[in-house]
Order: sequence, then C-alpha cells, then structure tokens
Amino acid sequence: MPKRTTIRDIRNKAADGQKISMVTAYDAFSARLVEQAGIDIALVGDSVGTTLQGRNDTLGVSMQDMLYHTEIVARSTERLLVIGDMPFGSYQVNEDQAMENAVAFLKAGANAVKLEGGAAVMPVIERMCEAGIPVMGHLGFTPQSTNITSGPRVNKSRDELMEDAESLADAGVFALVLEMVPGKIAQEITQAIKVPTIGIGAGPHTSGQVLVFHDMLGFSPEFSPKFLKRYLNFHQQALDALKQYKAEVEGGKYPGEEHSY
Ligand code: KIV
Repeated sequence: MPKRTTIRDIRNKAADGQKISMVTAYDAFSARLVEQAGIDIALVGDSVGTTLQGRNDTLGVSMQDMLYHTEIVARSTERLLVIGDMPFGSYQVNEDQAMENAVAFLKAGANAVKLEGGAAVMPVIERMCEAGIPVMGHLGFTPQSTNITSGPRVNKSRDELMEDAESLADAGVFALVLEMVPGKIAQEITQAIKVPTIGIGAGPHTSGQVLVFHDMLGFSPEFSPKFLKRYLNFHQQALDALKQYKAEVEGGKYPGEEHSY
C-alpha cells in the first residue's frame, strides 16, 4: 500500500529545492485524479463554496460541508497529504471552538488544517500545533475577509506581510499559502521564513504552487484572474458532448445496436 505523504516529506522536498504541488479536491473523482497525477497535497478548500455550491464567495460554507468533503477525499486516496480548510466562523469565535473544529477535521481524515490570517490567528495556531494538529497558514488575499478588502485584493504592505509570515512560522505553521502577493514580496518571504511557501498568484519563486481544480481545468470560463493558467477547457468540451448527446437522442442515433441488450 502506498505511503501517505507526510509533513516531513513536504519539508524535505522544499529543503531539497524541489517544488511542491497542491490542488484542491472535494470529492472522490477529483481526489483520485489529483492523486493519480502525482500531486503532493490535496486541499479540501472552502472554495467548494464557489466551485460546487454556486456561491459568490466562501463565507456560507459550514463545518458540516467541510467535514463531509474532507472525509470523502481522505477515504478515496492513499498517498496524498490531505488538508482541511477551516471555514469562516469555525476558528474566529473563540479558541476552544477553533480547537474542537480542528480536531473534527483530523477525525474526518485530514492530515492538517489551513487557517486564513495573520496576527489574529497566531494564538490559536500555537495551541493547535501544541495539540498535535499541523497547520498551514494563508496570507495575502484571504477570501474569508472579502468584505474587509472589498474583493480580491491584498490590503497589507510588504512589511506587514513579512511580519505576519515570520510570526506564523514562529507560531508553528508547517507551510504558508501566499495568495495574490506580488512576486517580489513572495520571493522575499520565501527566502526569509523557515517553512515552505505555496503560491497562488504569487509568482514563480515560492516553494510550491496551488490551483483550484475547477479553475485550472476550465470548469468556469467566466473566472479569469491573471494568475490562472487553464490546462483544459472542460466547460467547452462538456458542453459540446452534452449537445451531441441531445442531438443523437433526438435524431434516433443513440443508442445504437451496440449499446442495446
Ligand atoms: O479554498 C481554497 O481553494 C484555497 C486556495 C485558493 C488556496 O484556500
């Protein structure tokens, strides 16, 4: 049986100068594809709110939703490191509740959790790490703060981001997502802190990259941030296939003799 990737494997890979790959997964289908492709980490992201639930942002995603998806991803894979993304409201109210929720992620099969934010979340990150819960940090654009930033933008200076990154590393995060951080600042942070950085729209000099499964495979043509590279145009190909099916059903072309018992 293949060995599941560990935090130590991720650290060693970064220390060897190899890039880390992370992609979101929410279900058995996406998780197995991500695993078969040899990706290092599956992030069960709260982006499930926009990709699968049809929401405009991630704020409405619940703990129940996240545990449901985390359990499926963990159960359907053998090798991926699985990270559960703590949804809005699950770690902001008080530390005890945050701890209970982080524990619930690990009981659902996650190997680690991810939290957004800087100074405000450091005490709870320290507590989680002391309790044996590995934590991934997330700085730059933090989608759960979209009402403060008025959309997808970073409202912190280089020095503030650097200070937050250093404090998160000191608090014990094993890796740090940098979202939409200008490439030069992301490079400086990567050189300054002792844990790997995983960029999304943060240039080529981070220790690794993350993309959302549905975005990189072209499920949603309307979502086109500058950083996104589409590796497949799934939307168009699926649309063409569905139209062809409809035409063949209506034209009596499908099913043929070869599809009949
Ligand atoms: O929820 C998510 O998919 C994320 C990534 C964009 C890092 O947080």
